[in-house]
Amino acid sequence: MERIATRIVDGGPAGLAQAAETLRDGQPVAVPTETVYGLAVDATSDQAVARVFAAKDRPRFNPLIVHVADPAEAAAHALLDDRAEHLVDTLWPGPLTLVLRRRPRSAISLLATAGLDSVAVRMPSHPVTRRLLAMVGRPLAAPSANRSGEVSPTTAQHVLESLGGRIPLIVAGGRATVGVESSVVDLTGDRPVLLRPGGLPRADLEALLGPLAEPEPSAEAPRSPGRLASHYAPKAPVRLGAVEVGSDEALLTFGPDLRRGERVRNLSETGDLAEAAANLFAFLRDLDRPGVAAIAVAPIPDRGLGEAINDRLRRAAAPR
Ligand code: TXA
Ligand code: MG
Repeated sequence: MERIATRIVDGGPAGLAQAAETLRDGQPVAVPTETVYGLAVDATSDQAVARVFAAKDRPRFNPLIVHVADPAEAAAHALLDDRAEHLVDTLWPGPLTLVLRRRPRSAISLLATAGLDSVAVRMPSHPVTRRLLAMVGRPLAAPSANRSGEVSPTTAQHVLESLGGRIPLIVAGGRATVGVESSVVDLTGDRPVLLRPGGLPRADLEALLGPLAEPEPSAEAPRSPGRLASHYAPKAPVRLGAVEVGSDEALLTFGPDLRRGERVRNLSETGDLAEAAANLFAFLRDLDRPGVAAIAVAPIPDRGLGEAINDRLRRAAAPR
C-alpha cells in the first residue's frame, strides 16, 4: 500500500470539521469510541468501505458495525422490533451492537453488510464521535482501528503505531474507557443470540432479554471476524491460566498479587473487572516486547466483563 501522511487532530471544532470533510470525501478517519478506537468511513459508499478493508489489510470482506448518531438513524436502515426498541431505549448510547433486519431501501453499502439482509448498528457514547456523527449526517462503518489480527487500539498512539502511513487522519479522544469491543446481540431470529461478548456484561442484557442463546459455531464463525479463533494477537505467544512465571516471560496478572517488575502489569489490583477491561489491550501491547518469550496471564474470573476479557485472551492465545 502506498504510504501517505497521517495527521492527528483533537476533538475540537477545527479537528472535527477536518474529520467530517475527510469522511464526506470517502476517506477513512480513526475515531475514539468508549470501547476501542474505530476506523470510520462513510457507510453508504462501497468505495469508502473498501478503503477500510485495504487500510486494515483484512483478508475477507466481513460485515462491519454501522455507527449511528441516534436511534432514528438506526431505524432508517434497520427494522427495530419491540425487543430492539427496549434495548435501545435502555442501553444506548453505549457498548451494545444490535444485528437487525436491514431495510430493503437502506442506503448502507452492501460491502459494509457483506451482502447480508441484516445490519449491525450501534450508537457510541463517546462525545467526540457523537458530535462527528451529527456533523457528517451519515452512518459510519467502523471496525477497530488496527491492522487485521492485531490487538485493538485504546489510544490514538496505538492507532498511529498500527495504521500510521495508511490512513490520512486520526481524531484523538483520550483513552477508551471501556477497553473491549461492544457486545454484539443478534435479534434477527426468535431467540436473541450473543454473537460476541463485549463491553456490556451478559447479565445486563439478560435482565432485559431473558437468557441469550449461543451462536452456532459453524454458521456464525465465518461472518464474525471477532469470533475467529486467532484474533487480537500480540506477537509474543500468550499462555493462559499461569500460576508461575518463567524468567524469560512477561506477566499479565489480576487482583492482589505481590509480583512487581518491569515486565509485570496488573489489570486491576483491587480486582475490578471494568478497570481490567480498560487496561487489557494497552497492557498486552506494553508486554509484547522483543526478548519476551511469552506473555503469561494469571486466571481472571469469568463474571461480568470477565467474560469478554477471557474471550479476547483465548483468541490472543489461540494457535496462529
Ligand atoms: O466496539 C466496537 O464494536 C468497535 C468500535 C469501533 O465501535 N467496532 C467493532 O467493529 O468491533 P467490527 O466491525 O470489527 O465488529 C464487527 C462485529 C463482528 O463480530 C461481525 O461479525 C459482527 O460485528 N457483525 C457485523 N455485522 C453483522 C451482521 N450483519 N451479522 C452478524 N454479525 C455481524
Ligand atoms: Mg477488531
